Amino acid sequence: MSIDTSIFGPASPGAEAILRLFGTLTLFSALIFAIVLGVTLYSVIRFRAKPGQGEPRQVFGHTRLEILWTVAPAALILVIGVLSFNTLRVVDPARDGQPPELILTGHQWWWEVRYPQAGFVTANEIHIPVGQPVWIQLESVDVIHDFWVLKLGRKMDAVPGRSNYLRLEADAPGVYVGACAEFCGMQHAWMRLRVIAQTPGEYAAWQQAQAAIPPPPTETVALQGAKRFQELTCVNCHAIRGTGAQANAGPDLTHIASRQTLGAGVLDNTTANLTKWLTNPQAVKPGNQMPHFSLSSTDLSALVAYLETLR
Ligand code: CUA
Repeated sequence: MSIDTSIFGPASPGAEAILRLFGTLTLFSALIFAIVLGVTLYSVIRFRAKPGQGEPRQVFGHTRLEILWTVAPAALILVIGVLSFNTLRVVDPARDGQPPELILTGHQWWWEVRYPQAGFVTANEIHIPVGQPVWIQLESVDVIHDFWVLKLGRKMDAVPGRSNYLRLEADAPGVYVGACAEFCGMQHAWMRLRVIAQTPGEYAAWQQAQAAIPPPPTETVALQGAKRFQELTCVNCHAIRGTGAQANAGPDLTHIASRQTLGAGVLDNTTANLTKWLTNPQAVKPGNQMPHFSLSSTDLSALVAYLETLR
């Protein structure tokens, strides 16, 4: 799937405000550059030493010029300051004690996405209703990560031991790609995330589906997979609601089959890729926290069949 990530096509009021400020400042810089270059070139040509000519007239102190080159940059900085504060008001508005709709926690190297009111947890994929601002609380369990969804505006650090708050909003339905933007170790490059903006109806349906406990599998191989999931070490790190698996060191797998990617964006979520991941996660994403378990081919296909039922 090709996804447009250009910051020159902003998709939220915050991203639009940032782009507008960027455009204005670039224009200012270009004008200043043109003026300085113009005056320099003029001086070089106009006052070039000619043969037989002595020292030109020396000028010491010029009150009007001194005032001009102090006041003009100060005025310009004031204008830039006002524009910047106006942008901040749009990009980083006051939260006024509003509770966050979701808590996003950075892990090496994936994102935990918790919807506290709706009561479910997912990973690497944030769904929001289109056109409605959503407050996100940003956390980290290990090192500093940084939330950045290119078309939706500002970046924000996820800092261990500290909660940061960010208002996320999308103007149009679609998939907006983001990434961790603070170097956080070996697989920093594969700490992607997606924001999926949906119509209010689709968003409500998605929330309802995520909050539901998946029905136990009916097919034999998948049933065997469900059993093996509980017997093997999977349960030490992962949770699947409605089962004995309750750990939260790794991503919650309750509805893993409904997600678009695996391994925080390293693979598209297909049956073949899930098999590849479970065969040896270290070959796909070296250094990640999921060990290579050398599963038997029977266990492998049973686990894949089971996980594929978790829609
Ligand atoms: Cu997390 Cu870079």
